[in-house]
Amino acid sequence: MIETLFTYKEEPKTNATIIAIDVLRAGSVIITALFNGAKLVKITNSIKKAREMKKDGFIICGERNTTKIKGFDKGNSPLEYFDVKGKKIVLTTSNGTKVVEKASKISSKILIGSFLNLDFLIDYVKNDENIVLWCAGNNGNVSFEDTLFAGAFLEKLKKENRNDLSDSSIISLNFWKQTGLKFEGEHAKKLISMGFKDDVEFCKRISVYNVIPVYLNGAFYEVRTC
Ligand code: MLT
Repeated sequence: MIETLFTYKEEPKTNATIIAIDVLRAGSVIITALFNGAKLVKITNSIKKAREMKKDGFIICGERNTTKIKGFDKGNSPLEYFDVKGKKIVLTTSNGTKVVEKASKISSKILIGSFLNLDFLIDYVKNDENIVLWCAGNNGNVSFEDTLFAGAFLEKLKKENRNDLSDSSIISLNFWKQTGLKFEGEHAKKLISMGFKDDVEFCKRISVYNVIPVYLNGAFYEVRTC
């Protein structure tokens, strides 16, 4: 069964591979950082914990209300993650990191999906029996762009003869088919109004990074596909 969850507040029904989705922007940041050679990306919900990790050699990164946290090295723009080769990153964000923390208590296989790694991700999971597309959402509400990505993923997975979709997955798929690659949700609009139009355009690119972030002992590491 392939199930879609629309916000971090929901819970999966099956024991499954979990694909954590936060298109704008945490998921796209993690993929970009690992593609550019970051050693690992650790996830935390706590600004305090992230700050404490500075002494252990981490670069401390993240946002609240889309803005870089005071005293942090980087914010949550994927465009800031081109110069991270060999670096250990700790990331805290408003929605994306919540899904990962919840998922880590439920599944031993947690991956990150966004438009940036879409086709590579399909290849990586197409034979997994149960898959949960877990959208971070937007502050507890459905996110336009996360749902769109779930639909784009499902359209491609169906071409691999997967038709075992939950009702929530059928809804995502139809939303994608009707809408196409348009980022018109509340969060995209907010980011554009705050000067992050380039981030929104960056996160729309399909299958440009052959990296699957895989979660292991509290951090994401890259699996690079050919
Ligand atoms: C989040 O995790 O809530 C988002 O990535 C927020 C953002 O766009 O900075």
